[in-house]
Amino acid sequence: MNYLSPSLLAADASKLGEQVKAIDQAGAQYVHIDVMDGCFVPSISFGLPVISSLRPCTKRVFDVHLMIEEPVRYAKEFVQAGADLVTVHAEACRHLDRTVYTLRELGVRVGVALNPATDIRCLEYILPSLDMVLLMTVNPGFGGQKFIPYSLDKIRDLKDMITRKDLHVDIEVDGGVSLENVSDVLRAGANVIVAGSAVFRGNIQENVKEFLGKMG
Ligand code: DX5
Ligand code: ZN
Repeated sequence: MNYLSPSLLAADASKLGEQVKAIDQAGAQYVHIDVMDGCFVPSISFGLPVISSLRPCTKRVFDVHLMIEEPVRYAKEFVQAGADLVTVHAEACRHLDRTVYTLRELGVRVGVALNPATDIRCLEYILPSLDMVLLMTVNPGFGGQKFIPYSLDKIRDLKDMITRKDLHVDIEVDGGVSLENVSDVLRAGANVIVAGSAVFRGNIQENVKEFLGKMG
């Protein structure tokens, strides 16, 4: 099953609630929420109060992408704010295994994100404990960047690793995904598609429907 996760980073911040309802009504299954701390990544985006205020707007999956240092410090708070799926960066966790288990004990689905240059082999042992791996296909911190071409090989390699281990782990791809390259990304093995500017620029609902049409 493929899922579309529009990234609110590209939404109009003055109407976040309305825009969440718009992507929900158009059929997007997830809502991608990028949390940035100005330390792991240069930007600061939104945090806990925004997530809890948006929670009543939709029943869709809150796919929370934490681009923050040592996210385990806030694990409980993000779950309480309404996250359904929490993704932490391998590069931001001193104790990745402990972070994953802390989240799991809180009852949410857990993902691990990797920056473009991070080797997927760092997931060798933790992979069976994960629901999802998020591959960054741009350097994290900003929306609207260009998809890094070598990412397609990385998606294929990760898909092979998951298949070889006979696991069911979703592959989410985040950064520079558009209507032009989404088919390549899916063919390489991804099944959760993040799209920020490609959804929120122009007619939001039409864009969501066009993505879903290409995603089968
Ligand atoms: C970047 C974020 C992405 C970003 C994607 O650090 O993790 O989710 O918003 O935006 P686009 O689709 O515009 O590249
Ligand atoms: Zn993201």
